[in-house]
Amino acid sequence: MLLSMPSPNDAQADLIAYLDFHVEAGADAVLDERPHDRFSEADGPAPTLRAPRRAPDPPVGQTAGPTAGSLVPPPGSPPPAAPSRTFGRAASAQPDEAASDARARARQAKTLDELERILADFDACPLRFTAKNLVFADGNPEARVMFLGEAPGADEDRIGKPFMGRSGQLLDKMMKAIGLDRTSAYVANIVPWRPPGNRNPTPQEVAVCRPFVERQIELVDPDLIVCLGAPATQTLTGTKDGILRTRGRLFPYKLPNREVKLLATLHPAFLLRQPVQKRLAWRDFRSLRALLDGKA
Ligand code: URA
Repeated sequence: MLLSMPSPNDAQADLIAYLDFHVEAGADAVLDERPHDRFSEADGPAPTLRAPRRAPDPPVGQTAGPTAGSLVPPPGSPPPAAPSRTFGRAASAQPDEAASDARARARQAKTLDELERILADFDACPLRFTAKNLVFADGNPEARVMFLGEAPGADEDRIGKPFMGRSGQLLDKMMKAIGLDRTSAYVANIVPWRPPGNRNPTPQEVAVCRPFVERQIELVDPDLIVCLGAPATQTLTGTKDGILRTRGRLFPYKLPNREVKLLATLHPAFLLRQPVQKRLAWRDFRSLRALLDGKA
Protein backbone atom coordinates (compact mmCIF):
# COMPACT_ATOMS: atom_id res chain seq x y z
CA MET A 1 0.00 0.00 0.00
CA LEU A 2 1.30 3.41 -0.86
CA LEU A 3 1.08 5.87 2.04
CA SER A 4 1.30 9.49 1.10
CA MET A 5 3.42 11.58 3.41
CA PRO A 6 2.14 15.12 4.00
CA SER A 7 4.19 17.54 1.96
CA PRO A 8 5.85 20.46 3.81
CA ASN A 9 3.22 22.67 2.20
CA ASP A 10 0.37 20.55 3.59
CA ALA A 11 1.95 20.60 7.05
CA GLN A 12 2.31 24.37 6.89
CA ALA A 13 -1.29 24.79 5.71
CA ASP A 14 -2.47 22.54 8.58
CA LEU A 15 -0.48 24.56 11.06
CA ILE A 16 -1.93 27.83 9.74
CA ALA A 17 -5.46 26.40 9.85
CA TYR A 18 -4.83 25.23 13.44
CA LEU A 19 -3.60 28.70 14.46
CA ASP A 20 -6.53 30.39 12.65
CA PHE A 21 -8.92 28.16 14.56
CA HIS A 22 -7.42 29.26 17.87
CA VAL A 23 -7.39 32.94 16.92
CA GLU A 24 -11.05 32.69 15.89
CA ALA A 25 -11.77 31.09 19.27
CA GLY A 26 -10.12 34.03 21.01
CA ALA A 27 -6.78 32.42 21.91
CA ASP A 28 -4.76 35.04 20.11
CA ALA A 29 -2.11 35.99 22.63
CA VAL A 30 1.17 34.20 23.28
CA LEU A 31 1.83 34.13 27.01
CA ASP A 32 4.91 31.94 27.07
CA GLU A 33 7.11 29.93 24.73
CA ARG A 34 6.14 26.58 26.23
CA PRO A 35 2.69 25.10 26.92
CA HIS A 36 1.70 24.78 30.58
CA ASP A 37 -0.68 22.39 32.25
CA ARG A 38 -2.11 24.83 34.78
CA PHE A 39 -4.06 22.08 36.57
CA SER A 40 -1.01 19.98 37.44
CA GLU A 41 1.03 23.08 38.28
CA ALA A 42 -1.35 24.31 40.94
CA ASP A 43 1.08 24.00 43.88
CA GLY A 44 4.40 24.12 42.08
CA PRO A 45 7.11 26.76 42.36
CA ALA A 46 6.24 30.14 40.97
CA PRO A 47 7.84 31.14 37.67
CA THR A 48 7.70 34.85 37.00
CA LEU A 49 7.81 36.58 33.64
CA ARG A 50 8.79 39.98 34.99
CA ALA A 51 11.48 41.44 37.09
CA PRO A 52 10.18 43.02 40.32
CA ARG A 53 8.81 46.45 39.72
CA ARG A 54 10.50 49.74 40.51
CA ALA A 55 8.61 52.26 42.58
CA PRO A 56 7.64 55.27 40.43
CA ASP A 57 9.66 58.45 40.80
CA PRO A 58 8.16 60.64 43.50
CA PRO A 59 6.42 63.80 42.30
CA VAL A 60 8.62 66.86 41.93
CA GLY A 61 9.31 68.44 45.32
CA GLN A 62 8.68 65.23 47.27
CA THR A 63 11.50 63.07 48.62
CA ALA A 64 11.70 59.44 47.61
CA GLY A 65 10.08 57.08 50.08
CA PRO A 66 6.99 54.99 50.60
CA THR A 67 3.82 56.70 49.40
CA ALA A 68 0.27 55.45 49.08
CA GLY A 69 1.06 54.01 45.66
CA SER A 70 4.63 52.95 46.29
CA LEU A 71 5.83 49.36 46.30
CA VAL A 72 9.02 50.18 48.17
CA PRO A 73 8.78 48.50 51.58
CA PRO A 74 9.44 50.72 54.60
CA PRO A 75 12.67 50.00 56.53
CA GLY A 76 12.40 47.00 58.85
CA SER A 77 9.51 45.39 56.95
CA PRO A 78 9.58 41.58 56.46
CA PRO A 79 11.31 40.16 53.37
CA PRO A 80 9.20 40.23 50.21
CA ALA A 81 6.92 37.28 49.52
CA ALA A 82 7.83 34.81 46.77
CA PRO A 83 7.12 36.30 43.35
CA SER A 84 3.67 35.76 41.91
CA ARG A 85 3.39 32.77 39.58
CA THR A 86 1.95 34.88 36.80
CA PHE A 87 2.31 38.41 35.54
CA GLY A 88 3.46 41.23 37.78
CA ARG A 89 0.92 41.71 40.54
CA ALA A 90 -1.96 41.24 38.14
CA ALA A 91 -2.93 37.77 39.33
CA SER A 92 -2.26 38.23 43.03
CA ALA A 93 -3.51 41.76 43.68
CA GLN A 94 -7.01 41.99 45.10
CA PRO A 95 -9.19 44.12 42.81
CA ASP A 96 -9.84 46.69 45.58
CA GLU A 97 -6.16 46.92 46.40
CA ALA A 98 -5.26 47.27 42.72
CA ALA A 99 -7.89 49.98 42.23
CA SER A 100 -6.67 51.98 45.22
CA ASP A 101 -3.10 51.65 44.01
CA ALA A 102 -4.28 52.84 40.58
CA ARG A 103 -5.98 55.83 42.22
CA ALA A 104 -2.84 56.80 44.13
CA ARG A 105 -0.69 56.51 41.01
CA ALA A 106 -3.13 58.34 38.74
CA ARG A 107 -3.26 61.23 41.22
CA GLN A 108 0.50 61.66 40.95
CA ALA A 109 0.25 62.56 37.26
CA LYS A 110 0.39 66.29 36.65
CA THR A 111 0.37 66.01 32.85
CA LEU A 112 -0.98 63.60 30.25
CA ASP A 113 2.57 62.50 29.42
CA GLU A 114 3.20 61.66 33.07
CA LEU A 115 -0.08 59.78 33.23
CA GLU A 116 0.84 57.75 30.16
CA ARG A 117 4.22 56.88 31.69
CA ILE A 118 2.66 55.87 35.01
CA LEU A 119 0.11 53.73 33.19
CA ALA A 120 2.83 52.09 31.11
CA ASP A 121 4.53 51.09 34.38
CA PHE A 122 1.35 49.87 36.09
CA ASP A 123 1.22 46.10 36.37
CA ALA A 124 -1.89 45.36 38.40
CA CYS A 125 -4.16 45.01 35.36
CA PRO A 126 -3.71 41.60 33.71
CA LEU A 127 -4.63 42.97 30.29
CA ARG A 128 -1.30 44.70 29.88
CA PHE A 129 0.43 41.32 29.71
CA THR A 130 -1.58 40.07 26.76
CA ALA A 131 -1.75 43.39 24.88
CA LYS A 132 0.95 44.40 22.42
CA ASN A 133 0.70 48.11 23.19
CA LEU A 134 -0.73 50.55 25.64
CA VAL A 135 -3.44 52.46 23.76
CA PHE A 136 -3.51 55.77 25.57
CA ALA A 137 -5.12 58.37 23.30
CA ASP A 138 -5.28 60.08 19.95
CA GLY A 139 -6.29 63.55 18.89
CA ASN A 140 -5.89 66.95 20.41
CA PRO A 141 -5.58 67.19 24.21
CA GLU A 142 -6.59 70.87 23.95
CA ALA A 143 -9.90 69.95 22.28
CA ARG A 144 -13.23 70.93 23.81
CA VAL A 145 -14.68 67.48 23.22
CA MET A 146 -13.41 64.11 24.41
CA PHE A 147 -14.74 60.81 22.98
CA LEU A 148 -14.47 57.68 25.09
CA GLY A 149 -14.88 54.13 23.86
CA GLU A 150 -14.61 50.84 25.68
CA ALA A 151 -11.29 49.13 24.91
CA PRO A 152 -8.90 48.75 21.99
CA GLY A 153 -9.36 46.04 19.39
CA ALA A 154 -6.72 44.25 17.32
CA ASP A 155 -5.93 47.21 15.02
CA GLU A 156 -5.62 49.64 17.91
CA ASP A 157 -3.46 47.17 19.84
CA ARG A 158 -1.11 46.82 16.86
CA ILE A 159 -0.90 50.55 16.17
CA GLY A 160 -1.07 51.82 19.76
CA LYS A 161 -3.83 54.39 19.13
CA PRO A 162 -7.58 54.24 19.76
CA PHE A 163 -10.22 53.83 17.07
CA MET A 164 -7.98 52.85 14.16
CA GLY A 165 -10.01 49.96 12.71
CA ARG A 166 -13.46 49.85 11.15
CA SER A 167 -15.15 51.41 14.17
CA GLY A 168 -12.58 54.17 14.08
CA GLN A 169 -13.21 54.84 10.41
CA LEU A 170 -16.92 55.15 11.12
CA LEU A 171 -16.23 57.38 14.13
CA ASP A 172 -14.09 59.64 11.91
CA LYS A 173 -16.97 59.90 9.40
CA MET A 174 -19.45 60.71 12.15
CA MET A 175 -17.14 63.39 13.53
CA LYS A 176 -16.54 64.80 10.06
CA ALA A 177 -20.30 65.11 9.50
CA ILE A 178 -20.40 67.67 12.32
CA GLY A 179 -17.13 69.39 11.46
CA LEU A 180 -14.85 67.54 13.89
CA ASP A 181 -11.73 65.49 13.36
CA ARG A 182 -8.81 64.37 15.45
CA THR A 183 -7.31 67.84 15.47
CA SER A 184 -10.44 69.17 17.15
CA ALA A 185 -11.33 66.18 19.34
CA TYR A 186 -9.52 63.93 21.80
CA VAL A 187 -10.19 60.18 21.69
CA ALA A 188 -9.51 57.52 24.34
CA ASN A 189 -10.99 54.43 25.95
CA ILE A 190 -12.00 53.52 29.49
CA VAL A 191 -9.62 50.52 29.30
CA PRO A 192 -6.30 51.20 27.56
CA TRP A 193 -5.25 47.61 26.81
CA ARG A 194 -6.88 45.20 24.42
CA PRO A 195 -8.74 42.33 26.11
CA PRO A 196 -7.52 39.10 24.47
CA GLY A 197 -9.71 37.83 21.67
CA ASN A 198 -11.69 41.08 21.74
CA ARG A 199 -13.68 39.92 24.74
CA ASN A 200 -15.32 42.59 26.88
CA PRO A 201 -13.20 43.85 29.74
CA THR A 202 -14.34 42.35 33.03
CA PRO A 203 -15.83 44.63 35.72
CA GLN A 204 -12.60 44.15 37.71
CA GLU A 205 -10.46 45.25 34.78
CA VAL A 206 -12.66 48.29 34.26
CA ALA A 207 -12.52 49.14 37.98
CA VAL A 208 -8.72 48.93 38.03
CA CYS A 209 -8.35 51.15 34.94
CA ARG A 210 -11.02 53.65 35.95
CA PRO A 211 -8.86 55.95 38.12
CA PHE A 212 -6.57 56.43 35.13
CA VAL A 213 -9.32 57.42 32.72
CA GLU A 214 -10.82 59.72 35.35
CA ARG A 215 -7.45 61.43 35.75
CA GLN A 216 -7.08 61.57 31.97
CA ILE A 217 -10.42 63.39 31.75
CA GLU A 218 -9.33 65.82 34.48
CA LEU A 219 -6.09 66.58 32.68
CA VAL A 220 -7.78 67.09 29.29
CA ASP A 221 -10.47 69.15 31.01
CA PRO A 222 -12.92 69.00 28.08
CA ASP A 223 -16.14 71.02 27.92
CA LEU A 224 -17.99 67.95 26.69
CA ILE A 225 -17.48 64.22 27.10
CA VAL A 226 -19.05 61.82 24.61
CA CYS A 227 -19.38 58.22 25.79
CA LEU A 228 -19.54 55.73 22.94
CA GLY A 229 -21.61 52.78 24.11
CA ALA A 230 -22.83 51.37 27.40
CA PRO A 231 -19.54 50.42 29.10
CA ALA A 232 -18.11 53.95 28.91
CA THR A 233 -21.45 55.51 29.85
CA GLN A 234 -22.05 53.18 32.78
CA THR A 235 -18.48 53.51 34.06
CA LEU A 236 -18.48 57.29 34.07
CA THR A 237 -22.06 58.03 35.13
CA GLY A 238 -22.86 55.09 37.40
CA THR A 239 -26.09 54.39 35.50
CA LYS A 240 -27.06 50.77 35.01
CA ASP A 241 -29.35 51.56 32.07
CA GLY A 242 -28.53 50.15 28.66
CA ILE A 243 -27.35 52.41 25.87
CA LEU A 244 -30.64 52.42 23.97
CA ARG A 245 -32.14 54.07 27.05
CA THR A 246 -29.29 56.44 27.82
CA ARG A 247 -28.27 57.53 24.32
CA GLY A 248 -29.04 61.14 23.62
CA ARG A 249 -29.14 61.88 27.35
CA LEU A 250 -26.90 64.47 28.98
CA PHE A 251 -25.37 63.61 32.34
CA PRO A 252 -23.49 65.98 34.64
CA TYR A 253 -19.82 65.10 35.05
CA LYS A 254 -17.78 66.61 37.89
CA LEU A 255 -14.30 67.89 37.15
CA PRO A 256 -12.18 69.25 40.03
CA ASN A 257 -13.25 72.87 39.43
CA ARG A 258 -16.43 72.66 37.41
CA GLU A 259 -19.19 70.47 36.13
CA VAL A 260 -19.34 69.60 32.43
CA LYS A 261 -21.79 67.67 30.27
CA LEU A 262 -21.48 64.05 29.29
CA LEU A 263 -23.44 62.86 26.25
CA ALA A 264 -24.14 59.15 25.82
CA THR A 265 -24.40 57.76 22.32
CA LEU A 266 -24.13 54.53 20.38
CA HIS A 267 -20.78 52.84 19.80
CA PRO A 268 -19.65 52.77 16.16
CA ALA A 269 -19.12 48.98 16.40
CA PHE A 270 -22.81 48.65 17.26
CA LEU A 271 -23.70 50.86 14.30
CA LEU A 272 -21.62 48.64 12.00
CA ARG A 273 -23.70 45.68 13.15
CA GLN A 274 -27.01 47.59 13.11
CA PRO A 275 -26.70 50.34 10.49
CA VAL A 276 -30.38 51.17 10.86
CA GLN A 277 -29.55 52.70 14.25
CA LYS A 278 -27.34 55.31 12.62
CA ARG A 279 -30.29 57.68 12.51
CA LEU A 280 -30.26 57.74 16.34
CA ALA A 281 -26.52 58.38 16.42
CA TRP A 282 -27.01 61.16 13.87
CA ARG A 283 -29.51 62.80 16.23
CA ASP A 284 -26.98 62.60 19.05
CA PHE A 285 -24.21 64.04 16.92
CA ARG A 286 -26.44 66.94 15.90
CA SER A 287 -27.08 67.62 19.59
CA LEU A 288 -23.34 67.49 20.14
CA ARG A 289 -22.80 70.09 17.40
CA ALA A 290 -25.50 72.31 18.92
CA LEU A 291 -23.88 71.99 22.37
CA LEU A 292 -20.47 72.90 20.99
CA ASP A 293 -22.02 75.90 19.23
CA GLY A 294 -23.70 76.98 22.45
CA LYS A 295 -27.13 76.45 20.88
CA ALA A 296 -28.41 73.78 23.22
N1 URA B 1 -13.62 50.07 20.06
C1 URA B 1 -13.36 50.83 21.13
O1 URA B 1 -14.18 50.94 22.04
N2 URA B 1 -12.22 51.49 21.18
C2 URA B 1 -11.31 51.43 20.21
O2 URA B 1 -10.26 52.06 20.35
C3 URA B 1 -11.61 50.63 19.09
C4 URA B 1 -12.75 49.96 19.04
